[in-house]
Amino acid sequence: MNFKKEYEKLASIAADEILSAKGREKLEEIKIKFLGRKGQLSLLMKNLGSLEAEERPIWGGKLNSLKKKLTQALEEKVKELLDESKKYEAIDYTLPTGDISLPGRNPVLSVLEDVSEIFTEMGFGIAYGPEIETDYTNFTALNFMDDHPARDMHDTFYLRDSDMLLRTHTSPVQIRIMQNYPPPYKFIAPGKCYRRDTIDASHLPVFHQVEGLMVDKDVNFSHLKGILDEFARRFFKEKIQTRFRPSFFPFTEPSAEMDIACTICEGKGCPSCGGNGWLEILGAGMVDPEVFRHCGVDSNIWQGFAFGMGVERMAMIKYGIDDLRLFFQNDLRFLEQF
Ligand code: DAH
Repeated sequence: MNFKKEYEKLASIAADEILSAKGREKLEEIKIKFLGRKGQLSLLMKNLGSLEAEERPIWGGKLNSLKKKLTQALEEKVKELLDESKKYEAIDYTLPTGDISLPGRNPVLSVLEDVSEIFTEMGFGIAYGPEIETDYTNFTALNFMDDHPARDMHDTFYLRDSDMLLRTHTSPVQIRIMQNYPPPYKFIAPGKCYRRDTIDASHLPVFHQVEGLMVDKDVNFSHLKGILDEFARRFFKEKIQTRFRPSFFPFTEPSAEMDIACTICEGKGCPSCGGNGWLEILGAGMVDPEVFRHCGVDSNIWQGFAFGMGVERMAMIKYGIDDLRLFFQNDLRFLEQF
């Protein structure tokens, strides 16, 4: 071999090749080719012997500094490639990005929280009952006669081969609490209810209600009106107008429905309130003595009122939403508005 020629060739190309290597694999190949045990540099080392004796130290020194230079170039290149890949790897996923807009709360949840807060401020506790109920607690104890048409109105989901059902309203929580704890009572019971309804803009097979019960030794209809008026003022607005209409529920006597002046037309009449200026927001009444009897509460000593409201309905009125289905679709364009 022509030692000097081979040396010049190596010295002129090796550094360039290292500098222009693309990727770790290519660099590894280059390293083996030039600096490996059987690489071009070791080959030259082995061939130092072919030189004149006095030339050997000079060329040996040259080879050593070339080796140093290439090793250094390699190390720098490795670092450079590493830095480049770190640009992608070193993303801190916990840092806020700033451009993600989180949707607000589902309005159904907001209403549940607002209603609960208002009643707890007025001294009500919060009670929960099971969503799978017995026919007795959901209907019979609430004074629904076996052949009462109200049973049909509730379009119940029954569990196969049993008298269990998915509760059609939150009123059975009244029964469970009164059967298990002594009076007086002052609580609300929020929760899910189920009815066999075909889904459309105003019907869903699952929805939420908030039930309320206040029983003491001298609770009368004016307490019912006072508490529910105050609730409407806090939930809608201070100057809201309300009215109570006679109604019927099997578990209350007398029964009433409470309306508020339409929040859109302020009582003048518009399509939202069916033209009559009022929106129904809840049902209420004085607890029927027959219900107390089923719970072992003496109606000669204890009286009280109950009420029940639909949470989705309240949310629709408060936020001006005209389709129930929006609450359950989790469409971010809808949720972002709250
Ligand atoms: N449970 C009734 C319903 O689902 C609502 C209701 C009306 C509850 C009057 C009450 C009440 O406690 O007094 O339609």
